[in-house]
Formats: sequence, structure tokens, C-alpha cells
Amino acid sequence: MNPFIITGEYISSEYFCDRERETSTIESNVVNGRNTVLISSRRMGKTGLISHFLSQPGINARYKSFLIDLYSTNSLQEMVMMLSREIIRKSKTTGERVLESFVDVVKSLRPGVKMDPVTGQLVFDLSLGEISHPLESIEEIFEYLEASPQPCIVAIDEFQQIADYPEKNTLALLRTYVQRCRNTSFIFAGSKRRMMEKLFNSPSEPFYQSCVPLYLEAIDKDEYFSFAEKHFHNAGRSLTEGCFDELYKTFDGHTWYVQRILNEMYASNEAVLTPVQYHEALDYVIKLGEKAFEEQFRTYSNSQKQLLIAIAKEGKADAITSMAFVRRHALKSPSTVQSSARQLYDEEVITREDNSYYISNRLFSMWIRENYCAIV
Ligand SMILES: Nc1ncnc2c1ncn2[C@@H]1O[C@H](COP(=O)(O)OP(=O)(O)OP(=O)(O)O)[C@@H](O)[C@H]1O
Ligand SMILES: [Mg+2]
Repeated sequence: MNPFIITGEYISSEYFCDRERETSTIESNVVNGRNTVLISSRRMGKTGLISHFLSQPGINARYKSFLIDLYSTNSLQEMVMMLSREIIRKSKTTGERVLESFVDVVKSLRPGVKMDPVTGQLVFDLSLGEISHPLESIEEIFEYLEASPQPCIVAIDEFQQIADYPEKNTLALLRTYVQRCRNTSFIFAGSKRRMMEKLFNSPSEPFYQSCVPLYLEAIDKDEYFSFAEKHFHNAGRSLTEGCFDELYKTFDGHTWYVQRILNEMYASNEAVLTPVQYHEALDYVIKLGEKAFEEQFRTYSNSQKQLLIAIAKEGKADAITSMAFVRRHALKSPSTVQSSARQLYDEEVITREDNSYYISNRLFSMWIRENYCAIV
């Protein structure tokens, strides 16, 4: 098995690098009754960290934990659907007769309990249309968790999605319900940094200062090197420090990209991994993405393309609406840059950190540089 997992699935601590400090921070938050808000750019490892934390033996044994990902949801009904299914699914694995006790408290979801015509067993088969009062359902679900003999942890991934739900007042009511919980701890994670910060740090927002923030940065280089080297060593192979240094530097240690290249180098079966093998693996991975990058790039307007090229050239671009930036890259005008940037940002093609922008997909950025920037 290739030990460098790139699917996002958490296997075990054996294949998970470091994050010891972050894991104990979350643990301390949970034990001390504090809710956590976990923020990072995409693919840095939020979901992995949550799964890693929840699977710690001390946590697993003591708490009932539930993890839902709101990324694909557009309404509170969908959130209710996910949360209730996760609770029932998880509790079933512990052999409890959960369905009856669940709808005893979560009365609004009773229509979801049906008789399977073949087996004659009760099943939970809720349709979105049957969730007529989603906020009430959420309140009841939290009541159900509060009554559980074991303390609970609810982790809500891509939490910022809630801000886009059409229902008004959702966040304010949710905050009230969360605040009432004594037996349940919450972890809210999200990758849209600006939105997450607005939700949790802005005084006008209901979740203002209600959680302890945890910003997930890149894994420490030395820790990552020992982890990677150990896995090559276990297979009777060696990863040179020079090779890893180049890899880490190219991607600023951004987890998924480092994992992706390590995975490719591992697959190569070379006995000794040097910078040569690193460059081969990188070229190969960019080549694999080529068709998709071409397709994606083709969909943008001329001004969007020009802006993407300018950002790719600089890697991290500051003050993109300044005259200096516009002139440096022969762009049309600051206002054109602004409107292109807004669209690209909304579609998550570019990411903003402090005052600088970069292309979210680092491999896409490299592909643009290779194809549209100066040849050196
Ligand atoms: N500490 C780690 N050690 C090894 N691999 C990791 C670690 N953290 C994350 N990964 C891997 O890196 C990739 C990205 O991680 P993950 O999906 O957790 O990121 P994320 O921040 O939740 O991303 P997104 O914002 O896209 O949801 C996954 O393939 C995951 O398996
Ligand atoms: Mg995630």
C-alpha cells in the first residue's frame, strides 16, 4: 500500500503526519467546554485533523462523535438530513436501538421512520420534503444529544456554507442552540477564510467570539521529512533531504500537494529519491492535469486569463488593483482587475490571504507559468 494518502480518507495515525499540537489544542478545548473554529486554506488538512482527533483512543472511548460536511448543501433541510443520518448511522454501529429513542425526542423527524416492506424492520428513510421545520429539528437533535449518557462532539465541516442558506436567522438561532449545550462540544471548520473570519470575528455576527480559533498552517518541515523518510525507509528505500527540501519549498509545505508528489515518488519504485526524481514526479503530475487545466483555462474571459497569468507569474501577488501591478503586467485597468478578481475569487479559483492573492490550485498555477510565462 502506498503510505502517502491523497484521497482525503483518514486511515490511521500511522499514515498521518504530526499535528500533535493541534490535536491536543482541540482536545483541551473539548475537555474544557470550549468550542473550536478550525480555519485553513483548502487542502491543508482540516478534515484529516478532525478525523485524527476523533479517532484518538481517549476521545473515541469517552465521547460519541459525529462529523458532517456541509460543502454540497444549499439549505438547512439538507443539514438536518445529514446530521440526523450521521447520528443514526453512527449510533447503529454501537448496537443501540437508536431509531425509536431518536424520534422520541426529535419528533419533527418522525415521518422519516418507515417500515421496510421486505424485512418488516423500521428504517430511517427521510426525504427532504419531510423536513418541514428544519430549525425546530436542529433544536430537537441537540436536545437528543444533550440527553445522551455519553458526552458528544459534533464537527461541522465547511460550516461557512450555512451563510449561503436562504433561511433567515439561521445563524442566530443556531448560536442560541449551541450555547445551550452542556453535554455537546462543537468543532466548526471551514476553508473560506474571509467568510469564516467574518462569521466568528465580526461583532455583528451571532457566532462572534463564541469559539476558540485554530488556524491550521503547514506541517513543520522537519516533522514532515521524518514522516516521509520513515515510510520510504520501511520499504527499504531512501528519501534524500535535498529532495524533500525542494518539494517542501515549492509548495510551502501545503499538505495535499506534498502528499501528492510523495505518493507519486513512492509509486515510482526508485530506490533512492533525489531532486531528479522529485522533478520527474512533479512534471508527471502536472502533465496528468494538463487536459483539465486547458479546459478550465479556456472557460475564462480574456481579462480573467490575463489576471491569472499575472498572479501565476508572481506566485503571491500583492495589491493587484494598484496601478503598479496593472502596468507591470500590461493589464487593462484597476477596475477590470477588480471585477475579474471578484469572479475568480467567488469561484475559488484564486484565494486571498491578508492582502495578497494566489491561484488556489498550485498545480494549475504552475501549468499557467509553464505555458504563458517567460521561458528561462
Ligand atoms: N497530517 C497529515 N498527514 C498526512 N496526510 C495528510 C495530513 N493532513 C491531511 N493529509 C492529506 O492531505 C490531503 C488534504 O487533507 P484534507 O482533506 O484533510 O484537507 P482540508 O483542509 O479538509 O481540505 P478541503 O478544504 O479541500 O476540505 C488529504 O489527502 C489528506 O489525506
Ligand atoms: Mg475538508
